[in-house]
Amino acid sequence: MADKLELDDTLRRLLISSALEAQDNAYCPYSNFAVGAAVLTTDGAIFKGCNVENSSYGLTICAERNAIAAAVAAGHANIAAIAVVTNSQPPARPCGACRQVIGEFSSVDNPAVVISVSSAGESVEETISSLLPAQFNLL
Ligand code: THU
Repeated sequence: MADKLELDDTLRRLLISSALEAQDNAYCPYSNFAVGAAVLTTDGAIFKGCNVENSSYGLTICAERNAIAAAVAAGHANIAAIAVVTNSQPPARPCGACRQVIGEFSSVDNPAVVISVSSAGESVEETISSLLPAQFNLL
């Protein structure tokens, strides 16, 4: 079972500012929809990702999945929280594919907190289990 990490205001602010930094690096010349994400792992580390598009549109990778891949590659595979920043108002929630991937690295007992943030400053906080009930799971 993954450790429980207390998501206090300091960590929450740090996570959101990391996602905002990542949004600056979004490569999105086709959609002009910049997304930044930052993952907080249960051991307190933060990893960033942005959306990376491609002229072959289907090869695009979402910000959330890039952040999670960076965390897993660094050996941090348990997600406590993820912040996702877009310019959408109200804040856009992660797409279905990203919800499934967040769920893969979240614990059933302590489901990852998903903080969806608009660059205008509004934020919505939900758990991955509320965003993706009855997730497909083989483990
Ligand atoms: N996108 C994300 O980065 N995350 C999501 O959860 C949904 C969509 C990106 C993919 C594409 O680059 C752009 O947003 C428009 O769909």
